[in-house]
Amino acid sequence: TYVIAQPCIDVKDKSCVDECPVDCIYEGERSLYIHPDECIDCGACEPVCPVEAIFYEDDVPEEWADYYTYNVEFFDELGSPGGAAALGNTGRDHSGIAALPPQNQ
Ligand code: F3S
Ligand code: F3S
Repeated sequence: TYVIAQPCIDVKDKSCVDECPVDCIYEGERSLYIHPDECIDCGACEPVCPVEAIFYEDDVPEEWADYYTYNVEFFDELGSPGGAAALGNTGRDHSGIAALPPQNQ
């Protein structure tokens, strides 16, 4: 799967959303999250993020290693909705992101 890391927080450019062929990039209050089971590893989202927040799971920088878990656990309650557009902004975040002070300002 691909993973969205720290640079997305409080930025949410959303260029990635338009590129994903399976609509598996879900919106939280402060960040977006890639569904680990719905992502088909096509790589289309990674180059379009203007702040380089998106990484293949094996390429996530060490300092942001926790973001793999954040992307996975974000869906513990949501399950596998099968499409992000219909949900819109979920108004939630992983607790590890919700607890952070303002980022990337
Ligand atoms: Fe975030 Fe970059 Fe997408 S800022 S919303 S990961 S284009
Ligand atoms: Fe979607 Fe492909 Fe990225 S399936 S999340 S655009 S790797």
